[in-house]
Amino acid sequence: MPKKYVIANFKMNKVDKEVKTYIEQLLPKVEDVASQVVLAVPSVSIKTAVKEAKGSGVNIASQNINENGFGAFTGEVNAEMVSSVGASAVIIGHSERRSYFNETDAIVNKKIQKALKAGLMCVFCFGESVYDKKNNLTESALTTQITGALNNIYGNELGHIVFAYEPVWAIGTGVVATNAVIEKTLKLIRKIICNLYDEKVANEVSIVYGGSVNENNIKDIAKIANLNGVLVGGASLDPVKFSMIAEAFGKNQKTTAKK
Ligand code: PGA
Repeated sequence: MPKKYVIANFKMNKVDKEVKTYIEQLLPKVEDVASQVVLAVPSVSIKTAVKEAKGSGVNIASQNINENGFGAFTGEVNAEMVSSVGASAVIIGHSERRSYFNETDAIVNKKIQKALKAGLMCVFCFGESVYDKKNNLTESALTTQITGALNNIYGNELGHIVFAYEPVWAIGTGVVATNAVIEKTLKLIRKIICNLYDEKVANEVSIVYGGSVNENNIKDIAKIANLNGVLVGGASLDPVKFSMIAEAFGKNQKTTAKK
């Protein structure tokens, strides 16, 4: 069974002190959730977040990396750098990076390769635009994005990639995709991966949904068969709301000592 992930994406929010306080407040609330909780914090706060989350089982991610190794790229950070301060994962190909920073599928592919080489888990984001949706182009848009991102990636590396389906029209808009749309798209994504690799690989990958997930709609979203978690932006900024979202994917049974 694919592992479940509940991932927070802070985007460009929270100064270092706020990241620390957030984690202090979140940890007791998520200690018995069954999914892997991941916090993608601003890169300048990775070190603080790692220190604060130590021993808790919560993983810290970067929101981006540069696709290059070391060199003259002023202002950028690479996979080895975020790994060296304790990040264990990285978000790659978020729609905001694709649209504001012109990230192409080829760049996304390079970033995935660099991240895997540095031992980082990739949260690979993709999704159709409103144009694609209106013009029945979802299947071809997703096929292009997934195929492009996975160029030269082997099937046995897919266990280190979480597929984050984020329809662009649902991100930060308050318009959440219906369960029917998510279910249909999950099948499509597994079909695309199956065509690139095989059925076993396709059935084992974790696929999460992102786009206007919040503490109110999560109960419904969590019911979707074959969905392996969520990637949350806006609602993740509040530790109470985010912990409610994490809880929706189940809690670990507490084992009590026999009398
Ligand atoms: P949102 O963002 O939850 O605010 O829609 C999701 C994302 O951008 O990953």
